[in-house]
Amino acid sequence: MKRMIVAGNWKMHTTATEAAELALAVLARKDLQGGMAHGVEVVLCPPFTSLESVVASSSATSVRIGAQDCHHEHHGAFTGDVSASMIRALGCTHVIVGHSERRRYHHEGDDLVARKILAALSEGLVPIVCCGETLEERKSGATTSVIGRQLRTIMNVVGAERMGQCIVAYEPVWAIGTGLAATPEQAQEVHAFIATLLNEQNVRIPILYGGSVTAENAATLFACTDVYGALVGGASLKADAFAGIVAAAGEQAQ
Ligand code: PGA
Repeated sequence: MKRMIVAGNWKMHTTATEAAELALAVLARKDLQGGMAHGVEVVLCPPFTSLESVVASSSATSVRIGAQDCHHEHHGAFTGDVSASMIRALGCTHVIVGHSERRRYHHEGDDLVARKILAALSEGLVPIVCCGETLEERKSGATTSVIGRQLRTIMNVVGAERMGQCIVAYEPVWAIGTGLAATPEQAQEVHAFIATLLNEQNVRIPILYGGSVTAENAATLFACTDVYGALVGGASLKADAFAGIVAAAGEQAQ
């Protein structure tokens, strides 16, 4: 039995009204009533503009709400950005940092991701730290060296103690939104590598898998020794599918 976490990354989907409706639909699922399914920690990550409405929809439950990114400074002349303190003030508890879409479209690197982690932790938010290799990197046999570099760079800045307050999400870039999830063997291999790398510094934190997780493939992924749940994109936008993933996590939860 393991500590299991299922986080839904809604990406740039849902207006505030739609998000409140989706949150209510998710919370209405039998498995999620009370916001906690069989000991699974559930986190919903809507867009910034929907955070307030989703916090309100879920306030009477133990479902937690997270943002999809934060700025590394607390305030200042950063047009269009949102700080960790602003996110925290809305009642959020988590924030995704270093997602591959931020890395790709906003050119965010590991040093910046590390600074975002520090900002998030200083506000009491739990960072969900994403890492993962591209298809080219996997094909060239560089998967573990890429992930090792990402996590070591981050840990060098934030330190082991602060890293111990984070959650890691292994998200192979080639699996995100493609319908081509990693096989349980591929996921376990990388998760074991990450667990060993973290353990070397006495860091023991949940490692989530992300990339085309569905209600159908979740159970076999969650059965892997070092997989502690999922960061779910597409399937988190459908209440039934998301509840199915949470139920699969419940089978492994303590
Ligand atoms: P996906 O996205 O489940 O749609 O592949 C996962 C993610 O980007 O976090």
